Amino acid sequence: MSTSTNITWHDSEVTKAERQERNGHKSVVIWFTGLSGSGKSTVSVALEKALFEQKITSYRLDGDNIRHGLNKNLGFSPEDRKENIRRIGEVGKLMVDAGVVTMTAFISPYEEDRNIVRDILEDGEFIEVYTKCSLDECEARDPKGLYKKARSGEIKEFTGINAPYEEPSNPEITIDTEQHSVEEAVEEIVAYLKEHKYL
Ligand code: PPS
Repeated sequence: MSTSTNITWHDSEVTKAERQERNGHKSVVIWFTGLSGSGKSTVSVALEKALFEQKITSYRLDGDNIRHGLNKNLGFSPEDRKENIRRIGEVGKLMVDAGVVTMTAFISPYEEDRNIVRDILEDGEFIEVYTKCSLDECEARDPKGLYKKARSGEIKEFTGINAPYEEPSNPEITIDTEQHSVEEAVEEIVAYLKEHKYL
C-alpha cells in the first residue's frame, strides 16, 4: 500500500465541542467486541433504536455490513482483521468529531488492535463493551450456520474454532449475554452513558 505525501490538514470552523453542545450530548465510540453469535449486532441494534427514540444523534457500524462496502477488499487473516479494525477506528474518530454516538459491532479479536483504536481516540471517547458468551453457547446459537461450516472445514480461520479471540482485559462494560436479555443489556449501557455524563 502506498502512503500519501504533500498533504496538509485543514481545520474546520465548527468544533467538536460546538457540535456536541448543539446535539445536547457528548459523542463517543461504543465498541462492541465478542465472538460471532455473542450478541454484538443484536444488542447494538437495540441500543441504536433506544438512543434514536431518545433523540440522540447516533449511528451503528456493523462488521458484516461494512464488509459489503468500505472493507469489501478485506478477508479474515490477522493482517486483514487489523486493517479492518484500523479503518473502523478512523471512521469512528471522524464520527465522534461529527458529534455522533457511534456503535461498532466487530469481532475485533485482537486486544492490540482494539487498543490501537482506543489510542487514536481521546480519553473517554472509547467505551469497550464485551459481549461475553461461551464458545459452546455461540456454537449452539449458530445464527448464520457459520460454526457448522467452520467445523466441517468449509470456512478457514473462523474465530473461536481455528482463529483466536482475545478477551478484553479491562473493558468498560461486560455483558454476559447468556445471563442477560437484550433489554437488560441496553438498560445497562444507557445507565453507564448517563452515569458518565455522555447523555
Ligand atoms: S473482524 O475479526 O473484527 O475483522 O470481523 P468482522 O469484521 O466483525 O466480521 C465478522 C463477520 O464476518 C462473518 N465471517 C467471519 N467471522 C469470523 N471469522 C471468519 N473466518 C468469518 N467469515 C465470515 C461473520 O458473519 C461475522 O459476523 P458476526 O456478527 O460476528 O457473526
